[in-house]
Amino acid sequence: MDAIFGLPQIQSVAKALWQVGKKHKVWAFHAEMGTGKTTFIHALCEYLGVKDAISSPTFAIVNQYDSAEAGVLLHMDWYRLKDEEEAIMAGIEDHLLSEQYCFIEWPEKAPGLLPDDTFHVYLQLLDPATRRLYTDAEAI
Ligand SMILES: Nc1ncnc2c1ncn2[C@@H]1O[C@H](COP(=O)(O)OP(=O)(O)O)[C@@H](O)[C@H]1O
Ligand SMILES: [Mg+2]
Repeated sequence: MDAIFGLPQIQSVAKALWQVGKKHKVWAFHAEMGTGKTTFIHALCEYLGVKDAISSPTFAIVNQYDSAEAGVLLHMDWYRLKDEEEAIMAGIEDHLLSEQYCFIEWPEKAPGLLPDDTFHVYLQLLDPATRRLYTDAEAI
């Protein structure tokens, strides 16, 4: 998948990405700070029928949402983790093995913990109002 979009199209891109990725439980969102990882994950959770207010996980490593469509969703932000050891101490491995959907920001902090069948998603800032999302790392 390769899509160029702004905020007005984010719901339809989230829907399309769900169709492509739903067989994977662990999703790794790769992007620079300020590109739109949190915003996109929130749009995805909204598409999946999360009703409770979605907070930014900036100050929590793991936020849990209940989705009508996909059960429990775990939204993780690994930004404040130093490395794999810290991630293990924070109990991240148990979440990754829980068979619940895990949407991860800053997966680069502990890449060794990601399962082999992790769904890798890449976001790029094209201009202030436009982003590119693609799922094939070769397509840069
Ligand atoms: N698809 C998009 N199109 C335009 N602006 C976006 C898009 N996604 C996010 N933004 C804007 O980019 C900024 C950073 O988004 P955020 O989700 O916090 O980034 P990240 O989690 O990657 O640091 C926010 O102001 C947000 O409104
Ligand atoms: Mg973020």
